[in-house]
This record gives sequence, structure tokens and C-alpha cells, in this order.
Amino acid sequence: MRVFPSLAALFIAWFAVLGCTQAVTLEVKEGNSTCIKAELSASFSITYNTSSGTRTASVSLPDSTTVDAASSSCGGSPWLVAVFGSGHTLGLSFSNNGSVYSVANLTLQYNLSDTSVFPDANSSDVVTVVSASVGIWAPINTTYRCLSPTAVTAGGATVTFFDMRLEAYMPGNDLSPTESVCVADQATTTAPTTTASTAAPTTPQPTAPGTPERGTYSLKDNNGTICLLAQMGLQLNVSYVSQAQNKTVQELLNLTPNLTNSSGSCGVSSATLVLTQEQTTVLSFTFTLNSTSNKYHLSGISLQANWSDLTAPISASNNSLDYLRSTLGRSYMCNAEQTLVVIQTFSLNTFRLQVQPFGVTTNQFATAEDCQMDQDQMLIPIIVGAALAGLVLIVLIAYLIGRKRSHAGYQTI
Ligand SMILES: *[C@@H]1O[C@H](CO)[C@@H](O)[C@H](O)[C@H]1NC(C)=O
Ligand SMILES: *[C@@H]1O[C@H](CO)[C@@H](O)[C@H](O)[C@H]1NC(C)=O
Ligand SMILES: *[C@@H]1O[C@H](CO)[C@@H](O)[C@H](O)[C@H]1NC(C)=O
Ligand SMILES: *[C@@H]1O[C@H](CO)[C@@H](O)[C@H](O)[C@H]1NC(C)=O
Ligand SMILES: *[C@@H]1O[C@H](CO)[C@@H](O)[C@H](O)[C@H]1NC(C)=O
Ligand SMILES: *[C@@H]1O[C@H](CO)[C@@H](O)[C@H](O)[C@H]1NC(C)=O
Ligand SMILES: *[C@@H]1O[C@H](CO)[C@@H](O)[C@H](O)[C@H]1NC(C)=O
Ligand SMILES: *[C@@H]1O[C@H](CO)[C@@H](O)[C@H](O)[C@H]1NC(C)=O
Ligand SMILES: *[C@@H]1O[C@H](CO)[C@@H](O)[C@H](O)[C@H]1NC(C)=O
Ligand SMILES: *[C@@H]1O[C@H](CO)[C@@H](O)[C@H](O)[C@H]1NC(C)=O
Ligand SMILES: *[C@@H]1O[C@H](CO)[C@@H](O)[C@H](O)[C@H]1NC(C)=O
Ligand SMILES: *[C@@H]1O[C@H](CO)[C@@H](O)[C@H](O)[C@H]1NC(C)=O
Repeated sequence: MRVFPSLAALFIAWFAVLGCTQAVTLEVKEGNSTCIKAELSASFSITYNTSSGTRTASVSLPDSTTVDAASSSCGGSPWLVAVFGSGHTLGLSFSNNGSVYSVANLTLQYNLSDTSVFPDANSSDVVTVVSASVGIWAPINTTYRCLSPTAVTAGGATVTFFDMRLEAYMPGNDLSPTESVCVADQATTTAPTTTASTAAPTTPQPTAPGTPERGTYSLKDNNGTICLLAQMGLQLNVSYVSQAQNKTVQELLNLTPNLTNSSGSCGVSSATLVLTQEQTTVLSFTFTLNSTSNKYHLSGISLQANWSDLTAPISASNNSLDYLRSTLGRSYMCNAEQTLVVIQTFSLNTFRLQVQPFGVTTNQFATAEDCQMDQDQMLIPIIVGAALAGLVLIVLIAYLIGRKRSHAGYQTI
């Protein structure tokens, strides 16, 4: 009996590790008492200038994030300042009116000299952006909980929080057991029950957009040679709060290749392909090469969208993915449909995909490594063929034995 809870705990830990959203815990203390505690995951999508135009960087709040005790403070307007990477900081300032506390403003500082995050930036400044409309609030003595992504735009940056639990003006040293659940979570938790009971028979399902057209995308390096090649049909599967319908909807959206531009950068150990459709949809893929094992994989996907039906722009990213594994000097191919889950509310369906983010020579794909699904599909004719060959062999053996027997029988007579 005691095995069960410990197994459950193990599974939870396992999912926490596997799931993209690795939450960090941040605490601001004064003496022995905690005034702010936050458990959250966050990703940042930051537009910056290069000499050849603007680019978008995607970063996640790393596990190594710490609280800057010198800048953080308790008191009337408690302030949480988290530091990560090469001098980047995220600050949350709180206020309260006696019954409700809220995030008064969010401050993001990013260091453009960090070339691992901002390659080719044409400035080395530390940029500070502030947003005073964060929309995080809860009654005092309750924990604010929002597992759904919450995007906050500040200057040219979008901060997206996921899996968030936080409290300020805390009565004790731990998060209050009473949770105040954000609207987005309420929508997603109530949606399945309503669609199952009443809404399903009456509301027509949105029509599926069909298989997306296959696009060909490539990147060139500085001297004009192709360094990244991709061919694929792409379909976004996003859930968001619709303005027109005033509820969370699940939408499928195909990328149209001739309305989509590709940009990005090739690198020695990291390559990024950014697909932009009509300035309203920006989808980016980051590939990482392990130079020790000479294997590469798709490590990050991010989506920024600003469609007219959205109540708030979408900004979703996950930089700890492990998809499309292949070997340097090979391309990766998957003709079967694949679903790449990015976050809970966004996944990407790929069709007839072939990519090569590293080691492209002569502007062509190298020999492909096939995905398991394609291999399994190829296995079917092989198995059927082998079974047929086996059947023929059995019939042949049976015939030969039969012949031999009748022959022998004939001789004994
Ligand atoms: C903090 O706690 C320790 C031991 O529990 C105690 O000795 C110390 O006086 C406390 N400090 C404050 C500022 O309350
Ligand atoms: C990019 O450069 C332009 C012109 O100097 C400036 O106005 C803009 O703020 C810069 N953008 C960013 C994100 O730094
Ligand atoms: C950086 O690039 C932007 C446009 O890409 C340009 O407007 C700006 O002047 C450049 N800044 C510097 C310091 O070179
Ligand atoms: C910004 O990044 C550069 C390079 O990583 C580093 O040398 C510098 O100290 C950082 N600046 C701050 C304020 O941390
Ligand atoms: C505090 O703010 C909340 C939300 O803005 C509001 O509903 C409430 O009435 C305010 N309470 C007081 C005491 O001002
Ligand atoms: C953020 O809000 C706090 C509390 O309301 C205020 O003291 C601080 O000046 C604000 N910071 C900015 C940069 O607006
Ligand atoms: C919050 O809890 C503390 C301690 O339990 C209590 O003293 C305080 O009055 C409570 N505040 C509100 C607004 O309920
Ligand atoms: C392209 O640039 C690379 C280094 O960036 C260099 O090794 C190569 O020779 C260049 N190719 C041509 C055709 O200039
Ligand atoms: C879209 O995503 C939802 C939720 O993850 C899933 O139930 C649904 O089957 C997906 N649809 C397609 C066509 O991939
Ligand atoms: C949207 O729905 C919520 C609750 O379902 C309701 O309170 C609100 O008035 C609705 N807004 C509009 C514009 O219909
Ligand atoms: C995109 O392609 C479709 C069909 O392939 C065509 O009807 C449409 O005119 C094209 N649009 C543009 C902007 O080229
Ligand atoms: C690269 O691959 C080697 C061998 O498989 C492994 O030991 C190492 O941890 C990998 N490095 C990274 C950064 O994943």
C-alpha cells in the first residue's frame, strides 16, 4: 500500500522533468519570514536589432535562476528580482489595497552582449522594458494559480508564464492552501465538461483545414550558400480564448507556403529557422547539434501570433524539446504525420517533412534517416512479402515431401 504514493510521487517528478515546463522556485525573505514566494516557468521572446534587420530571440527561465537578494525587498511594495544567464533580470513588483494584491509592474532587463542568446546584435546595451498591465491578482491570503500561459508584452519583448503559483504579502512562510485560479485555467477546466454534456450536440465543430501544402524553406549563410534546408507541411493546433465566441476554442491552422517567409541563422552548434506568415504568425524552430556525438535534434519551437480573434497575442515556446533526432551529415525525413507537442495549449502537426539544419553541401539534402513511423510503414510490405515467401516455401516443401512419400510407397509395392 505504501508503494503507491511513492510511485505516484515518482511519476509526478518524472513528468516534471520530462515536461518542458521546469518550474523554478523563487522566494523573497526578510529575516525569517517570507513575503513573496513564486513557483513558475517562463519563456521570453525578445526582438532585437542586427545589422541586417530585426531578429527574435527565445529564452526560457533556466533552472539556475536565483533571487537577487540585494535588489529584492519586502515591505509595502514588495519586489521580486530574479537573475539568470549573463546579467538578465526579471522583476515583479507587488501592491495591495487591503483585500486584493496584484503585480503592479513587470520589469525585464536583457543584456544584448550575451551572444549565445542574441547572436549578431548590433548593440551591447542592457535594455530595460516595463509593463504596468500584467493582470496577475488574487485576494490576500490566497495563492494565485495559473497553469495556462499568461503572456505579458513589454517593449519589444513578450514574457510568457506557465505553471505559475505565487503569493505576496504572505501570512506564513509557505504558499496559502487556498488557491485563486486564473480565468484561463477556469476556461480550460470547464470546457470539456460543457462540451461533453450540452454544447457538443448543438455547436458545429470548426471545419478541419485539410492537409497543409508542403513548403520548401532554406537559409543561406553570409557568402550565399544554403546552410539549412527544410520541406514540410505545417499545421498549428492551438487552443486560445476567442473574442468572437467568448470562450476557449481549439483551432487548426495551416501554414500557406507562398505567404510564408523564412529567416533565421545557421550556426556551428545551433541553427534557427523562423517562418513568418503575413506578420501575424511567427513560428521558429531551433536545432541543436551535439558535436561530441555528432547528433542533432529539434530542441526548441516557439510561436508568436496576433490574429484578430485573439483576446491576447499568443506567445508560446519550449526550448527543451527533443524531436527529429538525426546524425550530422544526414537529413531527417518523416513522410507520416507527426505531432510535436510544444506546450499544453499548442502543438504542431508536420506532414511530409524533410529537414537538414547542419552540414548541407551542394544545396541538396544528404541521405535521409527515416523516422520510426516511416520505417514501420515500410516494414508492412516487407512482412507481407516475407509471409508470402514463407507460405510458398511451406507449400513447396509439403509438395516435395508428398512426392517423395508417394515415390517411396510406389517402390515398396
Ligand atoms: C530566526 O530564527 C532563528 C531560529 O529559529 C532565531 O534564532 C532568530 O532570532 C530568528 N530571527 C529573526 C529575525 O526573527
Ligand atoms: C532598433 O533600432 C531602431 C533604430 O535605431 C530603434 O528605434 C529600435 O528601438 C531598436 N529596436 C530594438 C528592439 O532595440
Ligand atoms: C542597429 O540596427 C538598426 C536597424 O537594423 C539601426 O537602425 C540602428 O541604427 C543600428 N544601431 C547601431 C548602434 O548600429
Ligand atoms: C553582459 O554579458 C556580457 C557577456 O556575456 C558580460 O561580460 C557582462 O558582464 C554582462 N553584463 C551584465 C550587466 O551582467
Ligand atoms: C481592491 O481592488 C479590487 C480589484 O481592483 C477591487 O475589486 C476592490 O474593491 C478593491 N478593494 C478596496 C478595499 O479598495
Ligand atoms: C512598479 O510598481 C511599484 C509599486 O507600485 C512602484 O513603486 C514602482 O515605481 C513601479 N516601477 C516602475 C518602473 O514603474
Ligand atoms: C490574512 O491572514 C492573516 C493571518 O492568518 C490575518 O492576520 C489577516 O487578517 C488576513 N488578512 C485578510 C485580508 O484576510
Ligand atoms: C564561405 O564562407 C566560409 C566561412 O564562413 C568559407 O570557408 C568558404 O570558403 C566560403 N565560400 C565561398 C564560396 O566563398
Ligand atoms: C489538437 O490538440 C488537441 C489537444 O491537444 C487534441 O485533442 C486534438 O486531437 C488535436 N487535433 C489534431 C488534428 O491534431
Ligand atoms: C464572456 O463570458 C463571460 C462568462 O462566461 C461573461 O461574464 C462576459 O460578460 C462575456 N463577455 C461578452 C463580451 O460576451
Ligand atoms: C498562393 O498559392 C495559391 C495556390 O497555390 C494561389 O491561388 C495564390 O494566388 C497564391 N498566392 C500568392 C500571394 O502567390
Ligand atoms: C553529447 O553527446 C555525448 C555522448 O552521447 C553526451 O555524453 C553529452 O552529454 C552530450 N552533450 C550535450 C550537451 O547534450
